[in-house]
Amino acid sequence: MAEIVFSSDLDDVDWAALKDALVADDFDNLRTPDQYRRSHENSHAVVFGRCEGRFVANGRILSDGVCNAYLVDIWTATPHRRQGVGREVVNRLLATVPGQHVALFTDDMPAFYRTLGFAPQVGGMSRIVGEWLAGG
Ligand SMILES: CC(C)(COP(=O)(O)OP(=O)(O)OC[C@H]1O[C@@H](n2cnc3c(N)ncnc32)[C@H](O)[C@@H]1OP(=O)(O)O)[C@@H](O)C(=O)NCCC(=O)NCCS
Repeated sequence: MAEIVFSSDLDDVDWAALKDALVADDFDNLRTPDQYRRSHENSHAVVFGRCEGRFVANGRILSDGVCNAYLVDIWTATPHRRQGVGREVVNRLLATVPGQHVALFTDDMPAFYRTLGFAPQVGGMSRIVGEWLAGG
């Protein structure tokens, strides 16, 4: 398989192509291309993986820049899984938040995050404020 090129550059991103790739791999959460753009632009750090120009991996981290961070949108396209791509995405994001407490939610992939040093923490709570994505 061709090499995967990683980038954290937001300037040359085709947001419709990113959404298309996520939809095709059943990992879209209904954001429009413009909402994908804004959620990445408002993140502390982002990573994209491309293979022959096509998106095959993505991830973001939110952070206050001091002590607390939150991993989101961690994705490797199905044909590229179990080759260390997700680990590379997360490690690149974690490298931007030294000394910070990093949280995440995962339904299906605790095994992946355990290999990266994460442990379940009882006491996590979450809610959606109003309707999902209704804020614009
Ligand atoms: C979770 C995900 C990002 C992992 O990406 P990946 O590129 O396959 O991960 P890696 O190859 O870097 O895996 C690193 C290690 O994590 C563990 N791991 C990864 N996927 C696993 C799985 N499905 N089951 C069990 N362990 C897994 C393995 O120990 C793996 O090392 P190994 O392949 O040498 O055994 C990918 O499966 C994915 O995109 N899933 C759908 C989206 C998703 O659920 N994202 C997380 C939302 S919280």
